[in-house]
Amino acid sequence: QQLRLEVYKTIPSTNEAVKILAATGEAEGKVILSEEQTAGRGRNGRPFFSPRGTGIYMSILLRPKLSAAESILLTTSAAAAVALAIESVSGKDTQIKWVNDVFMDGKKVCGILTEASLSLENGLLDYAVLGIGINVTLPAAGFPDGLGGIATSVFSESNHYDDLRCRLAAEVLNHFMEYYAHLTDRPFLSEYRQRILSLGKPVTVMKDNKQRGATAIDIDNDCRLKVRYENGDEEYLSSGEVSITI
Ligand code: BTN
Repeated sequence: QQLRLEVYKTIPSTNEAVKILAATGEAEGKVILSEEQTAGRGRNGRPFFSPRGTGIYMSILLRPKLSAAESILLTTSAAAAVALAIESVSGKDTQIKWVNDVFMDGKKVCGILTEASLSLENGLLDYAVLGIGINVTLPAAGFPDGLGGIATSVFSESNHYDDLRCRLAAEVLNHFMEYYAHLTDRPFLSEYRQRILSLGKPVTVMKDNKQRGATAIDIDNDCRLKVRYENGDEEYLSSGEVSITI
């Protein structure tokens, strides 16, 4: 399908802008990109550092026929699309930290925030706003304190590679829309699973305020993480209920 792109120099948050359009009846396929966000948001109410010119900050309006439980497929397929796009533009490897953070060299390079609204009539999504933030080049002043140790950029230079940034954004959208066309067939699942950082490795599962050591063993068809605890018990974890440390 045809996407309709709109590019801003600065905006508080592309997710917020697309949510407003969604609520006023805008059709699927609208994409807002911005050179900078002044109130970029991440998951769990955290801010998303979005300095001018060095990243891709974009949000896509979707109206998928998915239940709330299936909406995980949007985020995980987007993570796979970002991973493939970064690899083809940079020639370097990427990894995915379950559920949807894309990593390079052990640090986060992309975050994804899906905000969805459920229709009370049929229990399906009325809309979903898929927000993607990628650090493309190093901000001139570097990453601020607290991010330096955990964030990285696709390119380690602080040049503004505008042509590469455009190519990367286009590749992300193209890969994602290919997946989106047949999303419930999980066309992205093997690319997603291959890049999961923690498979076969020890993780700490944080659930109901309790921490337990486990080994991550698989990603199932619904993108749940299967873990085995030290006593041999196995459990499938959904993204909303737990966080893991790798
Ligand atoms: C996270 O890592 O916690 C998610 C970060 C999502 C950031 C993107 S940037 C474009 C879109 N607009 C926002 O305000 N957030 C998302």
